[in-house]
Amino acid sequence: MLSANFLMSQGECCGNGCVNCPYTPRHKKGNKNINISKIQSKSILYNWSEIMSEYLKMPMIGLGTWLLPNELAEEVTITALNLGYRHIDTAQAYRNEAGIGEAIKKSSLSRDGLFITTKMWPGMEPDNNFQNYNSVINSCNQSLSMLQINEIDLYLIHAPFAKDLRLEQWQAFLDLKKDGKVKNIGVSNYNIHHLQEIEDAGLEMPAANQIEIHPYHLIRPTLDSYMAEHKILPIAYSSLAPIPNWREGSRWNGKPEEMKTGSMPYEDIAEKYQISVPQLLLKWGIQMGYPVLPKSVKKDRLKENINLDHFEISLQDMKALTNAHLDQQKCLAWSNGFDPLDSE
Ligand SMILES: NC(=O)c1ccc[n+]([C@@H]2O[C@H](COP(=O)([O-])OP(=O)(O)OC[C@H]3O[C@@H](n4cnc5c(N)ncnc54)[C@H](OP(=O)(O)O)[C@@H]3O)[C@@H](O)[C@H]2O)c1
Repeated sequence: MLSANFLMSQGECCGNGCVNCPYTPRHKKGNKNINISKIQSKSILYNWSEIMSEYLKMPMIGLGTWLLPNELAEEVTITALNLGYRHIDTAQAYRNEAGIGEAIKKSSLSRDGLFITTKMWPGMEPDNNFQNYNSVINSCNQSLSMLQINEIDLYLIHAPFAKDLRLEQWQAFLDLKKDGKVKNIGVSNYNIHHLQEIEDAGLEMPAANQIEIHPYHLIRPTLDSYMAEHKILPIAYSSLAPIPNWREGSRWNGKPEEMKTGSMPYEDIAEKYQISVPQLLLKWGIQMGYPVLPKSVKKDRLKENINLDHFEISLQDMKALTNAHLDQQKCLAWSNGFDPLDSE
């Protein structure tokens, strides 16, 4: 259950099984494309996902901004940028692009050193307000305008909800890339059958797929392998979902009550490294090969969440964390047990 990216970072096969592994010998030990020393020698904060040269390059840590109100977005983003964050993850649906845009404008950082992700809301049942080609282009223009930038570094379809219009939305994304409005295009919450649709249409594949990933919601092995095969970078959201105070008081919390009131998990492992459990969960994600997107409105937590350079989780502890809840896999980030990966 260790991720394909993690196994490859160890110089191992992707996990498909060597006999039929489509990557052999590329994923075998000694692969020249994998430069582990490069990853370990640089600060994680500034280290872009260079683990495999064929994948999208982006910072391994980004500021998450779901449930960050627009009134606070400018201040929190400026604080994060001052602390060293260089990637901001927002979305049309978060309604905070305007505040983040103000922070980008006021920041003295060069645009080249910043990586901005935003997402197009595809529409959802029961409203059935699904976006078509033209409205996707309009949404992108609105996001550019609110973020006060000329180009989005990574533009994602937020979820695969627009069944009949999914390919039309993707076609608009391809054209936005061609027109230079977005640098990279990807998807979020897509499962294999959603990705396969793009492949079957013979269109360029997404560069990334942002999904919920933590020990209670590991990437499903078949999706992991498919993404590795197509060089689609998994980006992890809700890495901190296992901690009891995660999204405290929010209705957007699919955790069972016992997970909200229970004790902090993995404390024994975190104690060994003299770190906090949030740091352990974030570093686990990064070592698995996923960029992570911790969200906080609090300066001390923003600082804690990027302070990940001074320890390395051992292979044994990586396995222990990965295997901790294999029989209790559940989507926590969406309400009522709904998992967007299971959308038709
Ligand atoms: N594509 C999608 O469908 C999707 C879905 C969900 C999330 N995302 C993206 O991924 C980002 C991260 O996911 P998320 O916001 O669900 O969860 P998260 O970043 O894993 O966790 C955020 C929660 O943990 C708390 N927290 C943060 N750092 C902490 C620390 N060091 N100690 C204790 N508590 C801490 C925060 O509270 P405070 O703010 O009060 O500190 C908040 O309640 C989102 O913000 C969003 O950008 C994308």
